[in-house]
Amino acid sequence: MNKAIIPLIIGNWKMNGEIKQLGEIDSLNSMLNNMNNNNCHTVICPPTTLLISATQLNENSKIAFGGQDCHIEQSGAHTGDISAEILKDAGAQYVIVGHSERRSDHGENDELVQEKANAAFRADITPIICIGESENERKQGRALKVVLEQLDKSIPTDIKDIIVAYEPVWAIGTGLVPSINDINEMHDAIRAALVEKFGVNGEKTPILYGGSMKPNNAKEILELSNVNGGLVGGASLKASDFIQIIKACQ
Ligand code: 13P
Repeated sequence: MNKAIIPLIIGNWKMNGEIKQLGEIDSLNSMLNNMNNNNCHTVICPPTTLLISATQLNENSKIAFGGQDCHIEQSGAHTGDISAEILKDAGAQYVIVGHSERRSDHGENDELVQEKANAAFRADITPIICIGESENERKQGRALKVVLEQLDKSIPTDIKDIIVAYEPVWAIGTGLVPSINDINEMHDAIRAALVEKFGVNGEKTPILYGGSMKPNNAKEILELSNVNGGLVGGASLKASDFIQIIKACQ
């Protein structure tokens, strides 16, 4: 891990989390307070219904919060959607955009993801922009090409403050993880593309790995020089698992 970039461990709770799940945030908070040296930022993206309670209950804590998606507009007639401004109003500092589950469940493409990232800028919250290849694309040897193309089209033309998350679709929720060499190769390629496009700003952009990151594999992944943290699904739901990933990040 390149220490010039503050590492981030972000929990994506997806469609999990009733009110009682707030207790896990409470536990995580106590565990973080008991850590002597914590060099990494911790973020949780709970379901939107928990966002206000989570941010209000943890106002002075070491945990920041984010949304899991946003609409491109600020407000208006878009039943069931949520804007970056409303997320910000609820206390979010981040928003995930372009998660592969949004891309597959809702047909979101790179152009829309880019607009969502711009909507996050407009609301002054940080977009976490997700990219990643499918199993077939990896098998056909096209992973690098596909991911770099997604990156190019999904990120705004002026990157300001963004986070990129590389999440191979076939690794999400499956327990499968690419080899360390493959993760390294992909993160190095993403870094090179960011630097080529944005110069020094591209050097500072955090690149997270996501896809079956667990307490038992986090350390090895997080040690790679262009892995600046993790975007964690299943293992973020229990504070006792999540804290181990945060500890692996030191
Ligand atoms: P899992 O950690 O459950 O594989 O999910 C990863 C993910 O999709 C995070 O956004």
